[in-house]
Amino acid sequence: MKISLRYIMASVAVICSFTSALFIPLPVLADGRPYTVKQNNKVDSDTFIGYKVYRTWCARCHGTFGQGLAASDLTNTLKNTDRDDFFKIVARGKKGRMGEMPAWQSNDNVMKNRDRIYSYLRARADGALGAVTPELID
Ligand code: HEC
Repeated sequence: MKISLRYIMASVAVICSFTSALFIPLPVLADGRPYTVKQNNKVDSDTFIGYKVYRTWCARCHGTFGQGLAASDLTNTLKNTDRDDFFKIVARGKKGRMGEMPAWQSNDNVMKNRDRIYSYLRARADGALGAVTPELID
């Protein structure tokens, strides 16, 4: 059987669309930021869910809005932590000056929402979102 170039191209296109469907990236906005903030506290749904998950699992140590409490001020440390480092730290935990953070890798709720938590904390660290309760953009 003669395999035409067109056949190969079509197969590659199918494989690509299939794999990209498995790794759906979060929408990265035009300016490269993983969140949208409007009117001070209105945020996109991923950032909003990120905040909810953050409140449930992280706020008791890092403060209601990430400003620090028993553990570090994430609005500050996130300035020097990129997305990959953030993902690794959350999965593995961290022994720091202030104590030790547990690893979250067995917590599905945290692990599947790491991107969203990152969006929320990134918005806080960038100063796009203040220490206010986020609401969904209508
Ligand atoms: C039991 C308390 C506790 C909880 C809950 C907790 N952390 Fe931490 N976290 C810490 C401690 C302690 C450190 C180390 C701080 C230091 O450097 O002294 C830390 C460090 C970090 C760091 C590294 C940056 C830094 O400031 O050192 C990130 C990122 C982080 N935590 C994210 C999270 C996220 C996201 C959650 C929720 C899924 C979470 N933490 C929940 C205690 C906690």
